[in-house]
Amino acid sequence: MSFRAVRSRAPRGESVSRNLLFQHKHNVTYTVPKLKDFSPEALDKAAEKLLASLEKEAAEVKSESDWKVFRDRWIARKNGILAQVNDQWLKAAPKESKRDVGQRVNDLKSKVEQTVEASQNPDKRGPAGRAKTRSAAPSRAVAEVSDACLDITLPGVRRSIGAEHPIIRAMNEMVAVFRNLGYSVQEGPEIETDYYNFEALNFPPNHPARDMQDTLFIANQESKPLRERLLLRTHTSPVQIRTMEKMKPPIRIVIPGKVHRNDPPDASHSPMFHQIEGLAVDTNITFGDLKGTLDHAMKAFFGSSVKTSFRPSFFPFTEPSAEMMVSCFICGGSGRRGSEPCRPCKQTGWIEILGCGMVDPNVFEFVKNNGYDSRKLSGFAFGMGPDRIALLKYGLDDLQVFFQNDVRFLRQFA
Ligand code: DAH
Repeated sequence: MSFRAVRSRAPRGESVSRNLLFQHKHNVTYTVPKLKDFSPEALDKAAEKLLASLEKEAAEVKSESDWKVFRDRWIARKNGILAQVNDQWLKAAPKESKRDVGQRVNDLKSKVEQTVEASQNPDKRGPAGRAKTRSAAPSRAVAEVSDACLDITLPGVRRSIGAEHPIIRAMNEMVAVFRNLGYSVQEGPEIETDYYNFEALNFPPNHPARDMQDTLFIANQESKPLRERLLLRTHTSPVQIRTMEKMKPPIRIVIPGKVHRNDPPDASHSPMFHQIEGLAVDTNITFGDLKGTLDHAMKAFFGSSVKTSFRPSFFPFTEPSAEMMVSCFICGGSGRRGSEPCRPCKQTGWIEILGCGMVDPNVFEFVKNNGYDSRKLSGFAFGMGPDRIALLKYGLDDLQVFFQNDVRFLRQFA
C-alpha cells in the first residue's frame, strides 16, 4: 500500500456546496440517474454516459483545488457520484441483475478512481511515462481497498492485544527455570477425588492434617465411597500421584495450576489461587539435591544475590519436611528500607516461599505397581505459591488486585 493511495482518497463528509460550485464553475451537469431498466444494454449506456462526463470533468481540472473538488464530487464516501451509483444502481437493482450490476459498478469504481488519481496535480503532470508510473500502482491499490469497503483515511481501530497476566507471567518464568534443569511440565484436573487430593498423599481419613486445607467439596457426594468423592483440589500435589501412575521412574516434573480453598478473600488470601509443584524421583536423591536445586532456582528467578534458608515443617506426604525462605529481595535481607521498616518480610529479612521435603515412602506405596519401590528410590517434592511470589516481585500489597480484572491495573503489565 502506498501513501499516495492514502492521500488520493476523498475525506469523509464531503461538502455539497463545493460540489455545486464545481458544477457551476465548470458547467457540468452530470447527475446520477435513477435506473429503471437494468438490462445490459441500458447499463452499458448509463456507464458510458457517466464515463464521458468523468473524462470531461477531468479535463477541466486545472489546479490542486480544482482537483480536490473534482475528487470529492466523484469519490467522496458520502454522496459522491460513486456512492450514489452504489445506492441508486446497485442497491436498487432487482435480485437477478445484482451480480451483473455489481460487477459493472466495481468496474466503474476503479475507472473513476484511476481517472481521479491520474488527474491530480495537472501542472506538475509530466511526460506520459511519469504520469503512468505515478498512478498505475496506487490506483490499483485504491481500487482493491475500496472493493473491500475499507476507508484507509480513517484513523485505524486500535485493537488491544492483551498481555500475560502477571501471575501467569511469574508462573511461566518459574516453570522456565525448571525446564532449563530438564524438568517436564505436567497438569491435572481441578476437580479431584478425595483419593488423589488426600488419601494417596498420606492423609488418612479423619486425619487432622486434612484440616490444614479448608476444602471446597462438591455437593451430593455422600453416597460414594470417601475416596471417590469429588472436591476442588486444594493443592497441586495430587498431580504427583497422577504422574507417577502413568510415568515410570526416574521423573523430574513441575506442575503449575489453579487450586481452591474455602478461604474468604483478603489481602493475602483468595479462594482460588495458584501453585507450582515439583517432584524429582530417582535412585539416590538426597536432601542435598533438594537444597541445591531449589537454591539454584531461586537465584535464577530472583537474582543471584538471594540466599535460601530451610527450617523444619510438616506435610503428610514428605518426611522430613521443610519450609524454604529466601532472603528478602526487597530490602536485601536487612529488614529495613532506608529509615523505614521493610513490610514484605516483616523486618525479618526473610520471605517464606515454599514447602518441600523428601517424598514419604508411604506415598510411593500407592504407586509401587508402576515401578516406584521405596527401598530403591527416593525423591524430593516442593510446592510454592506463585501469586505471592508475583505480589512480592511487583511490589504489591494486596492479592485481590490480581483477580479484580481492573484493566488499569493489568495494563501496567502489557
Ligand atoms: N501441597 C502443599 C500445600 O499446598 C505444599 C507442598 C509442601 C507441596 C511440601 C509439596 C511439598 O510437594 O513437598 O500446602
